[in-house]
Amino acid sequence: MKKIAKWAGSAACAVLLMASGSAMAEDDASIDQQVDALLAQMTLDEKVGQLTQFSDIGDVTGPAPDDALQARKVELIRSGAVGSMLNVIGLNEIRTIQDYAVENSRLKIPVIFGYDVVHGYRTSFPIPLAESASWDLDMIEASARVAAVEASAQGLNWTFAPMIDITRDARWGRVMEGAGEDTYLGTEIAVARVRGFQGTDLSAPDTIAATAKHFAAYGFAEAGREYNTVDIGTATLFNVVLPPFKAAIERANVRTVMNAFNVLNGIPATGNAFLQRDILKGDWGFDGFVVSDWASGLEMVNHGFAEDGRDAARLAMLAGSDMDMESYVYFDHIADLVENGEVPEALVDDAVRRILRVKFELGLFEDPYRYLDAEREAASLLTPEHLDTSRRMAERSIVLLKNEGDLLPLQPGETIALIGDLAADKDSPIGNWRGMGEANSAVSVVEGFEEAGLDFTYEQGAALQIGEAGFAQQVIVNTEDRSGFEAAVAAASAANKVVIVLGEDALQSGEGRSRTRLDFPGVQQELLEAVHAANPDTILVVMSGRPLVLTWADENVPSIVQAWHLGSESGHALTNVLTGAYNPSGKLPMSFPRALGQVPIYYNQLNTGRPNQIPDVFWSHYIDESNAPLYPFGYGLSYTDFAYSGLTVTPTADGAEISFTVANTGELAGEEVAQLYIRDLAASVARPIRELKGFKKISLAPGESGEVRFTLGPDELGFYNGHGKFLVEPGRFDVFVGGSSAAELTASFDLQPE
Ligand code: GLC
Repeated sequence: MKKIAKWAGSAACAVLLMASGSAMAEDDASIDQQVDALLAQMTLDEKVGQLTQFSDIGDVTGPAPDDALQARKVELIRSGAVGSMLNVIGLNEIRTIQDYAVENSRLKIPVIFGYDVVHGYRTSFPIPLAESASWDLDMIEASARVAAVEASAQGLNWTFAPMIDITRDARWGRVMEGAGEDTYLGTEIAVARVRGFQGTDLSAPDTIAATAKHFAAYGFAEAGREYNTVDIGTATLFNVVLPPFKAAIERANVRTVMNAFNVLNGIPATGNAFLQRDILKGDWGFDGFVVSDWASGLEMVNHGFAEDGRDAARLAMLAGSDMDMESYVYFDHIADLVENGEVPEALVDDAVRRILRVKFELGLFEDPYRYLDAEREAASLLTPEHLDTSRRMAERSIVLLKNEGDLLPLQPGETIALIGDLAADKDSPIGNWRGMGEANSAVSVVEGFEEAGLDFTYEQGAALQIGEAGFAQQVIVNTEDRSGFEAAVAAASAANKVVIVLGEDALQSGEGRSRTRLDFPGVQQELLEAVHAANPDTILVVMSGRPLVLTWADENVPSIVQAWHLGSESGHALTNVLTGAYNPSGKLPMSFPRALGQVPIYYNQLNTGRPNQIPDVFWSHYIDESNAPLYPFGYGLSYTDFAYSGLTVTPTADGAEISFTVANTGELAGEEVAQLYIRDLAASVARPIRELKGFKKISLAPGESGEVRFTLGPDELGFYNGHGKFLVEPGRFDVFVGGSSAAELTASFDLQPE
């Protein structure tokens, strides 16, 4: 997203704050005292200003307001009346707007600056779905840490990440932004990302506040269509959707939550008191603040839930949405609603208190300019260390899906035909939601091969897309031009092996980028078939923001690698995996369908009443396709092999101790993600046929074995009923361990009644 307008006005002196500029608060009590002291001084209008967040006048990450509204916005910001901004980029820009607040407003309350730092800031990391395929929580936390160091070095103090929406529908464009279909994996990754962004001291200049988003259930949009209706049962809400948010709060102290565009069972998330007041702030005791999504407050009128902007403001505030992003309804109506007794001022005070608390925690009152350090900026962006971290993250995000005849790794001296527009593409690997990741800045596969000294010939074969597309623009037209096929086929025929890189442009996934098909856009499939016919020793590398339907490739192509969009170091990471310099260890965070018609498809499904095949048609199945995915959740190969044995299950008073052995039975060192699944065979709410309840990534030398242990207790064996009550019920449990959700090594135990 590039800025197209600059703030007028120059940098100015940093004006010491009055009363609130006291020494940095040491603890919550001190902060709360300072917050209350400041709140007591505030007029209603000043409180309303703190509830308002505007986007920069240049960048938009949602429907842009009209010119008149933009002009009004600029005046309000210049007057220091606005408490939060998003999409403001650059030290000078941020300083200028901060100056407005600390110079032009009465109480000089500093502005908090937010931005979508989703997978890196200036150093681009793999898209979050790719990082999730690493199952490497330390690396994922390190990735978020680097992003925080870079974003804070350019003056930002808040990221609208991690997106922790569980989703089972690859048609939805935002699957690229999350951690896939599983609640347990998604929860662990949510905690790791929040810890990476927030560090251990939020007032440190290299840490930023994180946002658990979108609250809640946005990932269940019907038909995978962006912003579409969400209707799910409360058991699914409590068991699948909410746990990552609860953990982000309870285990990582996430300081903000963003609500969502969608309705949940008929009530828009922004106006949903059940979600925001009863669960989030009530049951969970969340003490940070809730920010709306872009104009989601006003959009409650479109939903048919609010009569007009004023009604929307009333409903959102009553329901617990604290800060209004870009819909102006709070700015225009809250004071009037309070003065007319339709909104208790106590609710406004609670919202303002939450926002001020986070600003104090960030150290903004102690020094509103603490994040504005030109020397730190110059020393922090795109450093060799950050690029190295990005490359290591990318290597671990790659998933080897097939490798028949060990066509991979490439061997020295082999001649390679490297084919596909994406192989030379330096932009798509940066992905969508790219923050300040520069266009065309990724290392391409072509460059990676060149630097590695591989003997290869490159042919584009077919352009992936034509026309310029920007973050907000719609245009992605995939070419129908086949004129490059002949040269690609000739190159394939002449080479020992083919590496063909196909998939999606960066802007064919992400917000507003749902697809009705999951195939290769354009003429890529035809190119694949033509090249494969010319040389069957073909390796397919898939760059995409979502699972695609790879069934033809699985039936015909000997080696397949899922490479997502891998960030700045894409070409280096892919070259290292394809040559074996790094032995792939990734495991799928989402099921890959055999056919589009299976979607939404996920491993942790319920059994149904007719799960088993019988001679007639009366069982749960399709007449034209298997129920099974092409590649299941948790699946991924290595250049070596791993064997699982010795599963022992020892019942305990409240669960069981699990242990088993993993052996590297191959000839290469490698890493394996050993996974533990359970099944609760009978419960007061039907439970999934399998649920991930533990994983460990282990490194083993050839011939080496390692013992893996897990403990199953109430947290792992319990579940929520439809009323949100957590239950642990006695009865039989099956346990499965292995290298994917299709694990076959199994045992059982009985959980005894208390
Ligand atoms: C967008 C997204 C949200 C993002 C916000 C600000 O519409 O839904 O995830 O953080 O607006 O850019």
